[in-house]
Amino acid sequence: MRKVIFDTDPGVDDAMALGFLCRRPELELIGVTTVHGNADIETVTRNALHLKDRFGFAAPVAQGSGVTLLNRQGSPATHVHGRNALGDIDVPEPVATLDGRRGHRMMIDLVRAHPHAVTIVAVGPLTNLARALDKDPEIARLVQGVVVMGGAFGAHGHTGNVSPVAEANVANDPEAADAVFTAPWPVTIVGLDVTQQAVMDAAYLDRLRDQGGETGRFLHAVSRNYRSFHQKSRRLDGIFAHDSLAVICAMAPELFTLRHGPVRVVCGGLASGQTIQKPAESPFPIGAWDPHPSQSVAVDVDVAAALRLYAETFVTPDRR
Ligand code: BDR
Ligand code: CA
Repeated sequence: MRKVIFDTDPGVDDAMALGFLCRRPELELIGVTTVHGNADIETVTRNALHLKDRFGFAAPVAQGSGVTLLNRQGSPATHVHGRNALGDIDVPEPVATLDGRRGHRMMIDLVRAHPHAVTIVAVGPLTNLARALDKDPEIARLVQGVVVMGGAFGAHGHTGNVSPVAEANVANDPEAADAVFTAPWPVTIVGLDVTQQAVMDAAYLDRLRDQGGETGRFLHAVSRNYRSFHQKSRRLDGIFAHDSLAVICAMAPELFTLRHGPVRVVCGGLASGQTIQKPAESPFPIGAWDPHPSQSVAVDVDVAAALRLYAETFVTPDRR
């Protein structure tokens, strides 16, 4: 069983990913840290506590950073995730309470408590991870690995969703992403290259509603407005499985094709948030990528197997 810290800005697809994570016997959720992104930190933290009540997990929830590494305010994605960031469904006042530690502090404590046994799955801007590295650089050698939903490397033409060259999580804190990707820990980056291949279409979401019990009905309801956004903005009859794909990668990496090489992030300017990997075998002169560790970028995924794995987690045999 792999111990997982889930760093998140819930967020519709974050909620869907967390629901999946909680159900998988291969993964043990040991902590949830929140981060600004899809909404302000108070809103996403309240959502995380609601999800703790709803999914019934025991792991502590700690509030993380409300601003970027350089202390900038984020810009909430209300038009994508709704005013409450959970698709504007009713979210009751949480019963669950917060852990008193700051997000990056709890992350450090959990990694140190379980040396070489923790995978951090990060599905929001990478501010908490960068702060944790800054406070305690040794954790880079103590984690088992880091799986990030973020970035876009141009595979299959997927280059960005908030600008022609940038994906939202990285664009919302490019300096943090650059610090995380260049640190000496093994990072697997699950970007738009693969997440925009994995579409949960209307029939798929309807099946979750009809055959997935109470959680299936929640997954359908929470994604209803997110689906309208995809329809309006991309004429897509369904939603991208962004954050869930990162959890699937932590659990079933064999479903992904990885490309290796150091990764840098453009910080500032017209292309801010662009993620660029130097392929390991490329004969360029020594440059800004070279002193940094090789990281893994997902460039392909077995979409059918990944979506089957997700659905089968909720649709029990007697409901099929
Ligand atoms: C990512 O951005 C957020 O809006 C989603 O939750 C996901 O983590 C996709 O670009
Ligand atoms: Ca997210």
